[in-house]
Amino acid sequence: MKPPHPADKARYVREMFTRIARRYDLMNSLMTGGRHQAWRRVAARMAEPQPGGLALDVATGTGDLALALLTETPVRRVIGVDFSDGMLRVGREKLRRKDADGRVSLVVGDALSLPFPDKIFACVTSAFLLRNLADLAQGLAEMRRVTQPGGRVIALEITQPTLPGWSHLFGWYFHRFVPRLGALVSGDREAYTYLPRSVERFLPPTELSGLMERVGLRDVGYRRLGLGTVTIHYGTA
Ligand SMILES: C[S@@+](CC[C@H](N)C(=O)[O-])C[C@H]1O[C@@H](n2cnc3c(N)ncnc32)[C@H](O)[C@@H]1O
Repeated sequence: MKPPHPADKARYVREMFTRIARRYDLMNSLMTGGRHQAWRRVAARMAEPQPGGLALDVATGTGDLALALLTETPVRRVIGVDFSDGMLRVGREKLRRKDADGRVSLVVGDALSLPFPDKIFACVTSAFLLRNLADLAQGLAEMRRVTQPGGRVIALEITQPTLPGWSHLFGWYFHRFVPRLGALVSGDREAYTYLPRSVERFLPPTELSGLMERVGLRDVGYRRLGLGTVTIHYGTA
């Protein structure tokens, strides 16, 4: 599989998530042994929004982090934005099933040009978005722009573990096993080949922290979970 050209990346990513939307949640549960929801809950708590505030989850997909913001924090309402209609459709069905559609709204929009005014959200989160962006600095700058001063920006991402032995085992699992599982479960081997490659090509946490500072976030840091397979980045607007 050839990596998408940067100019084509947004279209490639949008079409890919729209294709796999129906099996996306199931694949997450299988790949992570059910841990993915716990990571989102930690990320939501780390967003620390003011009680009664409005939260934004960027690239919300099927809405799991938007829902975690509702259950784990004292926010009043959550907006989830994503550019894949197919992912949002699955998310809306989930919100209705959970009777949460009155407090979470899912809207179509681009993370590189968020359809919101400056400084209106008490916190802004994302999960598994950043390595999919055609322009990472622009995506981070947009998250900061729409966050109220003092509000937190949170980004949960998959990372390559560094522990000797474990990193090797994880590499085998992620690069060899996951594409086969993806082919079997979602019928889309390409999407689940793109996944480990996008993680491999992405910035290590220290470099991402540097970029978050350069877009104007302060008190930047990160916390590794899942034996280093995921990292929660945080900063203050
Ligand atoms: C790996 S999924 C993560 C979904 C969700 N955040 C979660 O925790 O499961 C990545 C999501 O990012 C969305 N996405 C990627 N680039 C985007 C962009 N530029 N604007 C809006 N959504 C984007 C995709 O459509 C997809 O739903």
